[in-house]
Amino acid sequence: MDNVEIEKLKNTVKLLMQDKKGILAADESNATCGKRFASLGIPDTEEERRRWREILLCAPGAQDFVSGVILFDETIRQSDSNGKKFTDVLKEKNILVGIKVDEGLQDFIDHTGETLTHGLNGLPARMQEYKSLGATFAKWRAAFNISDRTPSDDAIRENGEILARYAVICQEHDIVPMVEPEVLLDGNHSIDEAKEVTKKVLKGLFEAIEKHHVHLEGLILKTSMVLSGKDAENRADAKAVGDATVEVLKECVPANVGGVVFLSGGQTPDEATANFNAIAQHEPLPWPLAFSFSRALQNDALLAWGGKISNIELAREAFLKRLESNSQADQGLL
Ligand code: 13P
Repeated sequence: MDNVEIEKLKNTVKLLMQDKKGILAADESNATCGKRFASLGIPDTEEERRRWREILLCAPGAQDFVSGVILFDETIRQSDSNGKKFTDVLKEKNILVGIKVDEGLQDFIDHTGETLTHGLNGLPARMQEYKSLGATFAKWRAAFNISDRTPSDDAIRENGEILARYAVICQEHDIVPMVEPEVLLDGNHSIDEAKEVTKKVLKGLFEAIEKHHVHLEGLILKTSMVLSGKDAENRADAKAVGDATVEVLKECVPANVGGVVFLSGGQTPDEATANFNAIAQHEPLPWPLAFSFSRALQNDALLAWGGKISNIELAREAFLKRLESNSQADQGLL
């Protein structure tokens, strides 16, 4: 990569990692979106998904708290009710367009309970198309389950290798790669177990990333917070989550990585905000931090909307309120 290309990536990172703002993950696959709709009796149709994304992407004022949005393939091609492309709506608000490019999890053969993320085949051509549709950053998620046997060294190494190869393809297309190795919340593990697993996963990932010469300043890590399992007794509080998460990041993430953002991973919206606030209270850190939640940003608004046109304003109010509290958390102010 030449200097001009590197500067392009760094500029995208800088815009995404602006202070007081975060990145909305609105890249649920149709199947995941359908499940969330079904729980509220909302029909699982393309038009209903488009309406829901319009509520979020066209919410007046969201640009004060949102620097970028990660879209799903269907949404990057859709338009608002006036026929204006969502990508143009976002551009006018100075919100960067991101795209989920992985094709989901598949069983890892001979590794029961583990998965590898698929989608490298044909990725350069897809990346070229997404770039022409306006994307400046992309996301790829790998998932790691904590149990007595998992994650295995093989799963950490293979997923790390795949994430690194994806990151190289992104950067070759001037697209900032967001690498997302999610350590799942499921289970009854302690926060200390989550800490050890997250360290192993991140070390494996950055080994692969360095081996493939990914440009670190043009890369964003999207990580899970270090949490006790969903079913653990005496779950760790926000202070413990903040301390453990920052300890892991300092030990495993090279200082010149462009930014670190957090997924919510099934925490309640209030938990995710409080835990993110506790992490941000440790700043200054080597990297800028931001929130990049899906469920923890959308859940209040989705409930308020419930599929009814008459509730759109309420849904947007709930969305803005949640964005504002995460913007406060980004400054460690809560
Ligand atoms: P959650 O915040 O709901 O975990 O989603 C973030 C995300 O991008 C999942 O890939």
